[in-house]
Amino acid sequence: MEKGEFMVSVLFVCLGNICRSPMAEAIFRAKVEEENLSDVIEVDSAGTGDWHVGKKPHEGTLAILRENNIRTGGLIARQFHGEDKKYDYIVAMDASNEQDMKKILEPDHHGKVFKLLDLVDESPEKDVPDPYYTGNFQEVYDLVESGCSRLLNTIKEDNHLKEGNTYGK
Ligand code: 4NP
Repeated sequence: MEKGEFMVSVLFVCLGNICRSPMAEAIFRAKVEEENLSDVIEVDSAGTGDWHVGKKPHEGTLAILRENNIRTGGLIARQFHGEDKKYDYIVAMDASNEQDMKKILEPDHHGKVFKLLDLVDESPEKDVPDPYYTGNFQEVYDLVESGCSRLLNTIKEDNHLKEGNTYGK
């Protein structure tokens, strides 16, 4: 669906778009569905790099999503590009993703870019570690899960959304 049909759009961004950001996309989409907000909130993910374009997520990401009964269909890697400025919330997994996107986006759009763990006050770690290198997908799942909960609350507050697709009045 094209942006414009949704009230709010969210893009998760990491380096390869095969480990962290597709995990965040799937977890966040499940939360949006649980709250009956699928018609209101659009979700996607992308990578700043192009190595894995067209590929499914890493087996470690798929495995941990399945363990948690989260759907993994439709997750195909793509590269972040300038047109992604159309998203309302552009959520980086780490500081380098954030910096790389700010090189591509015009300054007018920099205010929409932030790190997922900046929303998790009690997390001393502000960058989601890259499991492509650490191999620790459980650690990433736990961090992304808490970040996605905060993100959905933030979006609901910012946009006066209530559960069940009513535009809060
Ligand atoms: P991601 O992990 O950014 O969480 O998807 C990576 C996946 C692949 C590569 C780097 C990070 N890579 O260099 O191919």
